[in-house]
Order: sequence, then structure tokens, then C-alpha cells
Amino acid sequence: MIFAGNFKTNHTRSSTKEYISILTKLVTNERVYIFPPSIALDKFEDSSIKIGTQNAYPTKNGAFTGEIGLEQLDEFDIKTILIGHSERREVLNENQEDIASKFKFFQDNGFEIIYCIGEPLEVRKNGEKAVIEYLLSQFNGIDLNYDNLIVAYEPIWAIGTGVSASIEDIKGIHKALKEVVKSPLLYGGSVKIDTIKDISNIDEVDGVLVGSACLDANKFYEMMSIK
Ligand code: 13P
Repeated sequence: MIFAGNFKTNHTRSSTKEYISILTKLVTNERVYIFPPSIALDKFEDSSIKIGTQNAYPTKNGAFTGEIGLEQLDEFDIKTILIGHSERREVLNENQEDIASKFKFFQDNGFEIIYCIGEPLEVRKNGEKAVIEYLLSQFNGIDLNYDNLIVAYEPIWAIGTGVSASIEDIKGIHKALKEVVKSPLLYGGSVKIDTIKDISNIDEVDGVLVGSACLDANKFYEMMSIK
């Protein structure tokens, strides 16, 4: 199982350092990724945990106020990025074209990409066929044959709401996605200690992308230990 934790706009530079040190001592054989806010990116040299960036601008450097590029990521050997998260699509207005060019840039630079897709509630209300069609449109311009790719399915209505998708829903969507996605497929959206067992037991789920329930290192590790 892959366990990826997205801090979003939580944790500081010092609390991230403490978090990574706690989690590093606990984690043994799981594949673990942490995405801290960009201000907290660092090398964390003695850790087996992969540190990724939640976002970056598709540039080496330049005049892009408020953004970070390759040069800033290289300083900390960051080679993993989240692209297409619904909060960037919905709140920060990144469209599919922006997302596809960001994907291409980081693919060309050899990054491991966790590419996120997910439908809003209006689409979900129209049934599974409509959901799949919507999700497939989020692959426009994306090279699904990229070998350093992980895909994360995160239904928007399940993110931060405490209401995870049902086991049947996750199974159905992941099964359909697996017909086009050959890379590992994560589920995200209100994954919690009480739901991890059922979710991780779904054959088509290769891991989870966790927001609020990853913010405490000990609790995130507890989640990893539940089989
Ligand atoms: P929550 O686990 O808080 O619902 O967030 C999921 C998510 O968006 C991870 O990227």
C-alpha cells in the first residue's frame, strides 16, 4: 500500500521537521509520501519518507511572483509533485490546459507525478457513467503511459467533509479507471482510521491520499498499521 499525506496549508517549517522525524522512526516497510507546504520543503536526509511538493510552476526560475520552480525544488532534491488536485482546479482556477502543460513540464524533468482527478457532487448525482466520463476528461493532455505516474481518485464531495465515498462506489470507479490507468491508483477523500481497513482491502485500491487524518504523525502511522 502507498500512503500519501497532503498537508495542504497546514503545519509550519518547524512542525513539519518534527513530524518527519517522528514518522521516520515509525515507518518501516510502507511506501510513504508527505506533501508539506512549500515553505517547509527540505532534504530530510535520514528519512525513507518521500517528500513531494503540493504544487510548482512549470519553469526553472523566472518572474512568477508567489510561485516556486525547478531551481527551488532542486535545492532540496524534490522530485515528486502533486498535479491536478481539486483544490487547485476549483479554488485556484487551474484549467485542464494549465494542468496538462504543468504535467508535461514535470514529466520532461523526470518527476514522479501524483495526478489527481475527481468529480463534483453535481456530476455524481447523474450516476456512475457520468462520473467516469467526467474523470476521463481530466486525462485530456495527460500521458497515462508515463512510467513515473501515480493516479489519485478523489471525489470532490468527499474531500474534507468527513463523508468518504462508499466501498461500492470506490470499487466501481477504480475498476473502470483501471481499464485506462496502468499506474498505481490511490483513493482520497475523508480517509480515516475507521475506514482505512475497508478501503485498503479493495483490490483496485493501491493506496490512499490523505488530508486531515495525516496531520498527526502518530495517527497517520496508526492508520498504516491497520490491516
Ligand atoms: P481529506 O482527507 O481531508 O478529505 O483530504 C483529502 C485530500 O484532498 C488529499 O489530497
